[in-house]
Amino acid sequence: MSSATLTVSKIRNGTVIDHIPAGRSLAVLKVLGITGYEGLRIAILMNVESKKLGRKDIVKIEDRVVDEREASVISLIAPEATINIVRDFNVVEKRNLRLPEIIKGLLKCPNPLCVTNNDPEALSEFVKVSEKPLRLRCVYCDTYLNEADVLRQVVGQ
Ligand code: CTP
Ligand code: ZN
Repeated sequence: MSSATLTVSKIRNGTVIDHIPAGRSLAVLKVLGITGYEGLRIAILMNVESKKLGRKDIVKIEDRVVDEREASVISLIAPEATINIVRDFNVVEKRNLRLPEIIKGLLKCPNPLCVTNNDPEALSEFVKVSEKPLRLRCVYCDTYLNEADVLRQVVGQ
């Protein structure tokens, strides 16, 4: 335990995304399309001590829910995150994210010749090859994506 603790109040209503890998909270906000100009009250904690080993980020967003699609994109960059829905100060729902075995329609295959980049009806589809380090394989052309590729696509940089 560190000697100093960074304390942030509980929220009344909204979403707390907890157990985000240290440093990834800004990428999570980007996935949610949150810039700060929406006027939502948001707390971002970065690199705070986790009850488990190591450090984590936490994002608390008042009066905003996270839908299924957003949760599945977040699972690509923060597979161990927990999404807590808070109502009237209580956690009424806790969703543990996990990286699915098959990721459909969320990522783009980097191979320009891949069918998914040429047939407008084809949905991209990747199989999880390994989680740590992250490695995904396109089921159509066997092109691999690594963690940096996924982060770049999801965060758009
Ligand atoms: N939280 C909050 N406001 C609330 C209730 C909870 O900001 N009104 C935050 C807590 O600070 C914590 C997260 O939501 O970061 C999850 O809360 P809770 O389930 O009570 O904590 P834990 O049991 O420690 O969660 P876990 O087991 O997922 O680590
Ligand atoms: Zn492909």
